[in-house]
Amino acid sequence: MVSFEMTGRDGLARLGRLYTPHGSATTPALLPVVHPGIQTIPPSEMRRLFGAEIVITNSYIIRGRVEFRERALREGLGGLIGWDGPVMTDSGTFQSYMYGEVEVSQPEILDFQRRIGSDLCTMLDIFSPPETPEPEAASRLSENSRRAGQASELFHGGGGTSQGARGKGQMAGGEEQGLVLAVQGGIFPNLRERSAADIAGLGCAVQAIGGVVPLMESYRFAELVDVVMAAKRALHPARPVHLFGAGHPMMFSLAALMGCDLLDSSSYAKYAKDGRMMFSWGTRHLDELSHLPCGCPVCASHDPEGLRSLPDPERVRKLAEHNLHASFSELRAVRQAIAESRLWELVEERCRGHPALLDALHALGGHAAQLERFAPASRTGAFFYKGPESSFRPEVLRWERLVRERYTMPDSEVMVCLEEAPKPYSRHYASLVRRIQERWDARFVVTSFFGPVPLELDGMYPVAQSLVPSRLDPESAARVSRAMKRFSHDLRSQFSLVWEGERSFEALGAVVPEGRGVVSDWEMLRVRATAELQFGRDAAAALLEGKLELVLSPNTGRVRNVLAGGEHVLSLRARDGLFTLRMPGARRLVAAVGPPRLRVVVDDDAAGFAAAGKNVFSRFVKECDPEIRPMEEVVVVDGSDRPVACGRALMVRSEMLAFTRGMAVRVREGSGGPPGEG
Ligand code: GUN
Ligand code: ZN
Repeated sequence: MVSFEMTGRDGLARLGRLYTPHGSATTPALLPVVHPGIQTIPPSEMRRLFGAEIVITNSYIIRGRVEFRERALREGLGGLIGWDGPVMTDSGTFQSYMYGEVEVSQPEILDFQRRIGSDLCTMLDIFSPPETPEPEAASRLSENSRRAGQASELFHGGGGTSQGARGKGQMAGGEEQGLVLAVQGGIFPNLRERSAADIAGLGCAVQAIGGVVPLMESYRFAELVDVVMAAKRALHPARPVHLFGAGHPMMFSLAALMGCDLLDSSSYAKYAKDGRMMFSWGTRHLDELSHLPCGCPVCASHDPEGLRSLPDPERVRKLAEHNLHASFSELRAVRQAIAESRLWELVEERCRGHPALLDALHALGGHAAQLERFAPASRTGAFFYKGPESSFRPEVLRWERLVRERYTMPDSEVMVCLEEAPKPYSRHYASLVRRIQERWDARFVVTSFFGPVPLELDGMYPVAQSLVPSRLDPESAARVSRAMKRFSHDLRSQFSLVWEGERSFEALGAVVPEGRGVVSDWEMLRVRATAELQFGRDAAAALLEGKLELVLSPNTGRVRNVLAGGEHVLSLRARDGLFTLRMPGARRLVAAVGPPRLRVVVDDDAAGFAAAGKNVFSRFVKECDPEIRPMEEVVVVDGSDRPVACGRALMVRSEMLAFTRGMAVRVREGSGGPPGEG
């Protein structure tokens, strides 16, 4: 039985675990390519030296050579290559692309992969290289889908989609080994999406994205982004995605950010043979190096001259070792970045390593909306600006949208636009705000990197938890200026003024008569505006109905709990300035806004567990608000829309409905009583 579990995430990128008959592997995973005959580094050392947990080899090559074939049939794949962990096998597709036809049929090669004990057996997909014209790529894709159907049929005995009654689509129980189906479609996003949809509808363990090696070899990373993102739109959300031939560490973070869970590398050996060393920031030929800019055991114990003077097989072996060290070290960097929700930042750094990768980063900007749907609503660390491309980040898109759609400006005569300043803005501007409000009925908005930040929202993620240089790059500055214009325009009836220091007092006095000063209750404004941004206006109104009491932290003096009409509806998390729901608040939300909004619907058995404060697992989820983002607050309801718990969503709707394992909602509080009472 092959299965996949998501244990952490950052947008489309996931930390996970892939289970196979020969053991499990952490994802994102790198599968070193092992040749059954030529072993630059023996697989037995792959685990010990580099921490490899799963490898890939080629069943077509094994089948084609008598001594490999017979040994594999006799001793299994593990015996042949000397590896006791999980193994994925490829099918000969790439050989048919390189050398023309292959002398094997799909049923034959699948049967062979099974007989030699492969954990992940790959279909004989039909490779469409980038130069394939669209009509031909389309017809090849249709043939590929037909073959995928045949492969699935052979594997799952005609189970078709192998999806249970609830539409779950992971491996059907029973069979041991997993099937890998591959997406093709050339460089055409529409074809890639169609191919992915065809494959998502079939039973398989792993979904591979094929036909992209020539794109990567010629550094066409922007097109790679477009085809991978297109495939991701239609692939099954709960199945791991393999990117065929992604072997250079400088692109691991990019691949992971797009939701690729498995990568394979033959490059470590190929590059070594050519004397080339791979780094997370690029490639260098050994002959070009007078120093070794790497801390791996090979580089720490040699200098370039020493490596150059080694005899051939030994030098190649050392370079291959370095290449694998560089690759696995980058893989760990990617995993850690996902764990900290800072993968975008890593991608921005790596994409500076090559202009073609910078093109890829720009191409990602074209998929901002698709990426935003999966981006976490909060994280532990701060948002770090990395360059003009930081404007593509989901946080930026989301902030502008939320302010535009959900923020209600309190009535006032004047809107004062303040410039970017040290955070928190409200503290920096406290005395100026007081002086202006003594004379006029004014509200305030700060021109930030994220666009307009109404002063009362300055404590919220990502604004408060962001580090942005004091001098913005021109592109970001232009974006911010457009966003500010739109914001002022939306105010319509207000008079707005860009504050330019002391002389603005006079300028304001000349147009707005004094004497209508106000004293804002900033804490109340903050509570209302934050709730509106997080839950929507109508929901916030319901949450905050009745007499409001704010319970302050005795240590910091900041709001900690919000009571409305005597009920504890919300708590404020100091770390990110966002509210967490409490059960009375959850009940108010369900009463005030209709389904599916803000809800995760669980089956009635699971409702009892949630009511008792237990976490909600995806297999019990029946429905979910499609607008929910990871880390957002949700209400868990039973089949009759009765609130049974509240907590934080860890998945989006499509994932909750597709995953058969893993946590969907981390429950904070259950309704206590038996399901339905709350
Ligand atoms: N190896 C590199 N590219 C591909 C591909 O598109 N399909 C398969 N099966 N293997 C590959
Ligand atoms: Zn090294």
